[in-house]
Amino acid sequence: MGKFLVEGQRSLNGSVRINGAKNSALKLMVAALLGKGSFRLENVPRITDVDTMAGVLRALGVDVSFDSSAMQLDVSSIDGHTPKELVKSMRASVQVMGPLLARLGSVEVARPGGCNIGSRPLDIHLAGFEQMGATIDIVGDMYVARAPRLRGADITFRYPSVGATENIMMAATMAEGETIIRNAAREPEIVDIQAFLNGMGADIRGAGTPIIRIKGVRELGATDFSVIPDRIEAGTYLLAFLITGGSGRLENVIPEHIAPLLELVSAMGAKVVTQERTITIESPTKLKPFQVSTRPYPGFPTDLQPQMVAVATQAVGRSELEEAVFDRRFGYTQELCKLGADVTVNRSSVAIDGPTRLTGASLVAGDLRGGAALVLAALAAEGQSVIHGVAHVDRGYESMEERLESLGAKITRIEE
Ligand code: UD1
Repeated sequence: MGKFLVEGQRSLNGSVRINGAKNSALKLMVAALLGKGSFRLENVPRITDVDTMAGVLRALGVDVSFDSSAMQLDVSSIDGHTPKELVKSMRASVQVMGPLLARLGSVEVARPGGCNIGSRPLDIHLAGFEQMGATIDIVGDMYVARAPRLRGADITFRYPSVGATENIMMAATMAEGETIIRNAAREPEIVDIQAFLNGMGADIRGAGTPIIRIKGVRELGATDFSVIPDRIEAGTYLLAFLITGGSGRLENVIPEHIAPLLELVSAMGAKVVTQERTITIESPTKLKPFQVSTRPYPGFPTDLQPQMVAVATQAVGRSELEEAVFDRRFGYTQELCKLGADVTVNRSSVAIDGPTRLTGASLVAGDLRGGAALVLAALAAEGQSVIHGVAHVDRGYESMEERLESLGAKITRIEE
């Protein structure tokens, strides 16, 4: 695993172009398993999670290639198997369940264990498949799902799970009759996958609202598509400007997708101006503290929670943040404290007293967004920090060090 060396206390300024959304691209890739023919996916980020998913698709017989701006997928017959190790290494791989059940009538995936941000069970996905007529067995450390023919069903989720919404949407595209998902997740990535599947010939309505209706069709073809911008990457760079007292511009963003973040940083004193596809931010001389709780979309995203806590260390006064989506997502705060941050964790919430003068230290990233928070904090800290475990950051951020450097940061990658 590589590490980053960061010389902090340099304010970031300039313009950064946001890449396609990781959490959309990964799902569009698996959705292609439902179709046949050639797909061209534009705006796919070059991150290691995308490489991992490409490995999963290749093992299933899909031809995956990249050119300078796009990914090409050629899907004919699906005849391989899901590689256990790759599936285990990336939670998003459970999304192959829906498409493979629909297309092959059976699928085996490794049961996810606990992960670095919480227990992450699959009960909502599995209950949905069962309502559609699937049987699910646990064999060793695998889930084995079988459904010779999936039937449409009226399914009410106990919680608006993003992954379960996508999995059931995909399974339902070729089921017999209509499927209704109630209390569905409303994230922009769900709207993206609906547009993609409909481009392949599916009949889905309602994505972006709590009720999604899917009418089963006989077969799906291929389509070309451009992935929406990554709202979490956008939020991370926005907060990089803010934590360093800089000012800058995000290009290729959809400001409405991070409305709760923009409201919050405006209330903290930042000047934010949005246009159709850009956001500019100017940092105030003094950051005000905040209170916020993470929520499913359109609430404040859990994937920006750690970065927000990093920024809170520079606000004047006590900030409070509740984590209401995942049950264990504060591991990175121990590392922030090594820089001198004053953070108190209390089960599902955290209080941050600021401003603290952070000083460089040796840190270990343990997960993707926690790792991004450590990078932000190191950018604000006095002196040199070393961040180990950069592979976690590479899962979701394309060339983060190069892009931060182009904004004026002093950051270098050392391969180990
Ligand atoms: C997706 C995103 C992730 C983001 C999360 C919430 C991808 C690849 N990942 O993850 O970055 O943080 O949405 O916005 O898109 N739950 C259950 N049972 C289930 C499913 C989920 O209890 O069957 C719980 C989870 O443990 C968690 C909460 O629901 O506490 C949210 O999970 P979910 O919305 O499913 O997130 P993911 O799809 O895993």
